[in-house]
Amino acid sequence: MTPGDSRHFLWGVSTSAHQVEGNTHNDWTRWEETHASMYAKHAKKRVWSESLLKAFPSPLDQSNYISGNATEHFTRFREDIERMKELGINACRFSIEWSRIEPAEGAFDERAIAHYREYIHALREKGIEPVVTLWHWTHPLWFSYKGGWRSPYSLGHFTRFVDRMASEFRSDVRYWIPLNEPGLWVGDAYFLGRKPPGEKNVFALIQVYFRLIEAHRSSYRALKAQNPAFQVGIAESAEYMKHGLFRPCFDYFRNFFFVRCVLGSTDFIGVNYYKRVRLWGKGNEVSQMGWEIYPEGLGRMLKKYARLKKPLYVTENGIADSEDVKRASFLRAHIQECIDAKKNGIDLRGYFHWSFIDNFEWEHGFWPRFGLYEVNYRTQERILRESGRIYREIITHTRW
Ligand code: BGC
Repeated sequence: MTPGDSRHFLWGVSTSAHQVEGNTHNDWTRWEETHASMYAKHAKKRVWSESLLKAFPSPLDQSNYISGNATEHFTRFREDIERMKELGINACRFSIEWSRIEPAEGAFDERAIAHYREYIHALREKGIEPVVTLWHWTHPLWFSYKGGWRSPYSLGHFTRFVDRMASEFRSDVRYWIPLNEPGLWVGDAYFLGRKPPGEKNVFALIQVYFRLIEAHRSSYRALKAQNPAFQVGIAESAEYMKHGLFRPCFDYFRNFFFVRCVLGSTDFIGVNYYKRVRLWGKGNEVSQMGWEIYPEGLGRMLKKYARLKKPLYVTENGIADSEDVKRASFLRAHIQECIDAKKNGIDLRGYFHWSFIDNFEWEHGFWPRFGLYEVNYRTQERILRESGRIYREIITHTRW
């Protein structure tokens, strides 16, 4: 791959299994069962726009917080891949759901493997490059019952799954991302307690953080052992800190620590960028989730990651915007940052929009709408948003 060669730029969309497939059975589904009513109750204390209250499911409904059928992407993937083709993309980042592949410890489900094989082939038939994430925050129940990542066996369990996927798809998949945003997840799951297992324990946080570093490294080894031509990367969440005084510390711990630790075991760095963050005050331009829209932050983060001398991909970037009033300008401005970065010699090789389709947004449930396609959750109808058309135009007209 040569930087600056437009034929090799990956224009893609991103999703994750639990957020779109429907009918998954993992630690998150358990969490939803026990937390939905509390989330709905808390939602009553917030002020919501009329349009969100009228939407289905509304943030006040308990069903908003249960992933259930989600977008039924598991069964509707063929028609959805047609839609991807209509978007004009040439790459799709998605995750393989570990709990489907290994629903009981050591028992691999051949039908689930066959499903993902069909999925990958369907993408390839449409000229879409699969980019596979192997861990996007969900775990088989048996794994979490054994203590999840706190268990000393967790590393071996995860690596066995990675190894199996690598051997199954050795000639079908080239790009692999073993872990999605481990640095962000570990804080949510073991410090803030808002994702399963919901512990608030600094000791556990540190233990799991370092175990995930090991998990990335051993996944890298397992993948490369199956096929040295595999491109294996890390996708980490990058946020741009507004206050200059705190920025170096924030960058060091939040944006760069994990990535630096796995630098010797990574072929590329995936940057998931959504927002600027601040310790006080509020941004002028925000999404429906209150996230500050700050495209320059993406350009600045790309510049910083480029210093690590690895190829870069924007593996996620998107906005919660149910009315689709801000997404088009969000897309244009963020992609412009990518174009500028490339012009300035940064080895950026792809941009993946989050998300292809509306999805289940973890503890927020269904109300945040990130999709280039809108989903009617009553009928499962998909409607291309205007911003989706604009993404297609950008893809068609961008010349590097
Ligand atoms: C996660 C996605 C999530 C997105 C929007 C990212 O941090 O990887 O799963 O949907 O942010 O919140």
